[in-house]
Formats: sequence, structure tokens, C-alpha cells
Amino acid sequence: MEHQNLDDLRSSLLGQVADAADLEALEQARVRILGKKGQVTQLMKTLGGLTPEERKERGQAYNRIKDAVAEAIEARRQDLADADLEQRLAAERIDVSLPARPDRVGHVHPISRTVEELVAIFGEMGFGVAEGPHVEDDFHNFTALNIPEEHPARQEQDTFYLPPQEESGAPMVLRTHTSPVQIRTMQSVAPPIRIIVPGRTFRSDSDATHSPMFHQVEGLVVDETTHMGHLKGTLIEFCRAFFDIEDLPVRFRPSYFPFTEPSAEVDIGCTRADGQLKIGHGDDWLEILGCGMVHPKVLENCGIDSRKYQGFAFGMGIERVAMLKYGIPDLRTFYDSDLRWLKHYGFLPLETPSLVRGI
Ligand code: FA5
Ligand code: MG
Repeated sequence: MEHQNLDDLRSSLLGQVADAADLEALEQARVRILGKKGQVTQLMKTLGGLTPEERKERGQAYNRIKDAVAEAIEARRQDLADADLEQRLAAERIDVSLPARPDRVGHVHPISRTVEELVAIFGEMGFGVAEGPHVEDDFHNFTALNIPEEHPARQEQDTFYLPPQEESGAPMVLRTHTSPVQIRTMQSVAPPIRIIVPGRTFRSDSDATHSPMFHQVEGLVVDETTHMGHLKGTLIEFCRAFFDIEDLPVRFRPSYFPFTEPSAEVDIGCTRADGQLKIGHGDDWLEILGCGMVHPKVLENCGIDSRKYQGFAFGMGIERVAMLKYGIPDLRTFYDSDLRWLKHYGFLPLETPSLVRGI
């Protein structure tokens, strides 16, 4: 092959490489030129019929072409790969400065939100969180809490009874309050105790302010020097933090619970004008929780020495405080599973409550 022809061949082959529009076309070009039956490979096979001198000269020339083509293919491959990556980066571009879209993952139910708030406030005061079973025995739900067999409180609480357990024959109940978890906690851990117990409770009861399933949060503190001042300080602090009103009036009114002595109900200040309830300074009061010093009999029922230890306890309805705080007028709507309601009263999942940023 003449010089001129070799130069033409070289530029034709390099042209094929340059023309490859994508990686697949480039691979086809590589096979066409350098493959087993490729153009350059075929040329190499013709060397056998030449004189040694010609063979050396031609062989070197062919090799130079082969190397040049191989190099061009490699360079082209790199270019195409880079372009490919550029294109993908452009197509899959994500603006990390855009706000998240929490709407897509739904809303947090006001009950869950309120529990988070309770845990945040009491957690800051050093309370842990305890839980207990929804199906309780008579002992934990009533007897150990100083509510004996014929006590009217058993009727007051409109209990759902379940078939007795097979082994003991003892009646089982859907717990009517979170107070049985006080008992379970005092039975299983030694004082000092400082817990809250948010959870589901059940009573045979249904109207605009009573639901057969509702939620309570219980509080229990037991230590050697715990007294009524601690009870008052804790609950005043809680009410003001929860409703986010620094000087919210809080009143303790004598009351009665079988498991506390003395007992009190806690009212917060409010006004009721034109059928509108507003929490804060005002001429009226609104009951929000029950509390008291743990009855010595209850401590003893749990094996705690009542001459050495004292405690206070409190309990409140979670729906009740959520309705007050968020202006939700009807208790029954909490359980309608109405998405429009949840969108209106629900919370964005990324906004978890904390004392620092506000409850
Ligand atoms: C109790 O259940 C006591 N265990 C609370 C307690 C604990 C007092 C520790 C002292 C020491 P009571 O029956 O009042 O108390 O219920 C407490 C709250 O639960 C009520 O104020 C109310 O907000 C809520 N509640 C009661 N029944 C229902 C119901 N059917 N639906 C919704 N909320 C209810
Ligand atoms: Mg009550």
C-alpha cells in the first residue's frame, strides 16, 4: 500500500471513531476496525506474503495506525462517558435548598401531638414515660387503688367488663383510667419514682364530651420527702407551659379520689363571653385535672413503706386538654378519621414540640 493510501486509511479510520455518536456506536466502530475481522486486523494478515524488508516497514506503519486508532477510541470513550454523566447530572438535578414537602406524608393527629407535648414538658422536669396493658385485672384497675368491691367509683367509671381469665376466674376489664400503671410501676421499681403514663382508656360512655375510648395521662412521683408543695409546683408549671401562658391562674380545689388523700381538682382561669371560651386571666374557672397525695394504703398495697415514702399523683384527659388548647369543639370528631378534619387540626410531622422552640 502506498504512502498516500496509508494516510487516507488513517484519516478514514479516525473519522469513523470521531463520528461515533454514542458508546454503542463507538464499540461497533472498534469491532469494525480492530476486531478479529476488522480492517486493520485484515491488513496485518497480508504482511505474511511480503519480503522481510517490506514486512518490517509496512508492519511498523500498520502498527502506528492501529495505536493511533486505539488511542482515539479511548479518548472518544472518555468524552462520551463524560457527556453522559453531564447529561444525567443535569436531568437528575435536585435543588437541596427547596423546602421539604411534609404534606406528602400526612398530618400528625392532635392526640399524638399532645402526647409529644406532654412528654416534652414533663421530660424536661425529669419524668420518664411508662406504659401498661389496656386489658387489666380487677386488682390493678380498682382494688390496689383503694377502690374496694362495693365502692361507688366502680359504677361511676362505667366499666367495660371482659370474660374472666381461665386460670384465676378473676374478672378482666378494659382499663378505665391510666392509674393501674401507677400500681404496676410501684410494684416493680423501688422509689424514687418519677413517671408519666400517656395511654388509652375505656369507659361505657358516649356524648359530645365523652367517648368510649379516650386517652389519659397519669403522673406519679414517689420519694422520701415528696409533699403537696411539689405537687402544686409541678402542676402549675405544667399548666403554664402547656397552654403557653406565663401567668395563667391555676387553682387547687379540694376533691375526692379513693387513691389519693388529700385530693384536689385543678382549675385554670378562663373567660366565657358570647359562648366563646378563652383560657387565661378572667372571671371564670375550668377544671382540667385530678390529683392528690398517694393514699398510704395504695403505697402499702404495692409493698412500699408508707412511713418512709410519700408520693403525689395526677391524671387528666388528653382529648380534654387538646380540645381546650386547639379549640376543637367536639370530642367525637377525634375518631371520625376525616382527612379534612385532620388537615385542619393536624400538625406537620417535621415540627416536633420542644420547650426551646415553644410547645
Ligand atoms: C380519673 O380517672 C383518675 N384516675 C385521675 C387521677 C389520677 C386523680 C391520679 C388523682 C390521681 P376522672 O374519672 O375524673 O379521674 O377522669 C380524668 C379525666 O379523664 C376527666 O377529667 C376527663 O378529662 C377524662 N375523661 C373521663 N371520662 C372520659 C370520656 N368518656 N371521654 C373522654 N374523656 C374522659
Ligand atoms: Mg372528674
